[in-house]
Amino acid sequence: MSSPNQISNNCPFTPADLDRVRTETFIERIDFHQQIGSTNDRALAINHAVDEKFPLLVLTDSQTAGRGRGANQWWAGSGALTFSVLLATEAAALPMERWPQVSLTVGLAVCEALEESLARGVPETSRDSLPAVQLKWPNDVYIEDRKICGILVEAPTDRQGRLLLGIGINVNNSLADAPEELQSTATSLLDLTGRTESRTDVLIQTLKQLADRLQPAGFWNETVRAGWRRRCWLTGKSIQIDLSVRQATGICRGIDEQGALLLESDDGVEAHFAGVITVVDR
Ligand code: BTN
Repeated sequence: MSSPNQISNNCPFTPADLDRVRTETFIERIDFHQQIGSTNDRALAINHAVDEKFPLLVLTDSQTAGRGRGANQWWAGSGALTFSVLLATEAAALPMERWPQVSLTVGLAVCEALEESLARGVPETSRDSLPAVQLKWPNDVYIEDRKICGILVEAPTDRQGRLLLGIGINVNNSLADAPEELQSTATSLLDLTGRTESRTDVLIQTLKQLADRLQPAGFWNETVRAGWRRRCWLTGKSIQIDLSVRQATGICRGIDEQGALLLESDDGVEAHFAGVITVVDR
């Protein structure tokens, strides 16, 4: 299953890799660490001190205390890709009213990057048989019903006009080495394809799609909305939304124009802008 020029699955980022990121993407500055607790925590810690050069990328070879949404932790075994992008939102033309849709759009950019990774080396004529890359609203990415990427969007409180995109993608980390509870619910590119990928290539591809999708002209157009809808993993599934004050159950009817999740229950179709989703019946 492995390719002839297989790289070690925890092949560290080299200075040449970082140069590629700088020259091939919209990143202006890189804060690189061989090992760090959390790239989001690092970005939040230096946010007040950095004034120039955005977007800033915080990147690590190995993240040891990744945070997920709420109180969740993010497991990143050796070979995982974990990074955070700090944007100056005025410069990136992301006014505050657009921030809720940012999560979905970041998820879409990751889907597109992973589609490209999966298609690498596969003849055009065989691409229809590749697994679908899907978006679990609001911003998880799933392949073959398992989570491959988690996204944590945060707005730093110590400085207005900044937005932090934390992205964890399971690239060369096999879930066979993961905590037991993740083994049946998550996956990685390595587990799906049996071959290792250059994390730098996946990172660059993701950053390129992000730059494309977050730019003013591309952010809120029909192509982006159609991209969410087409990849919505929850559509047609029986789900429960935890809304803190109450729980709502019903059938997911997709994502609307504003990025809200549509839930059909006995009372009709409701649009939800927030909430934690559980799939009741696959
Ligand atoms: C989730 O699924 O709940 C979100 C997970 C987000 C994980 C990424 S990994 C890089 C960045 N740094 C963190 O501590 N978390 C995000």
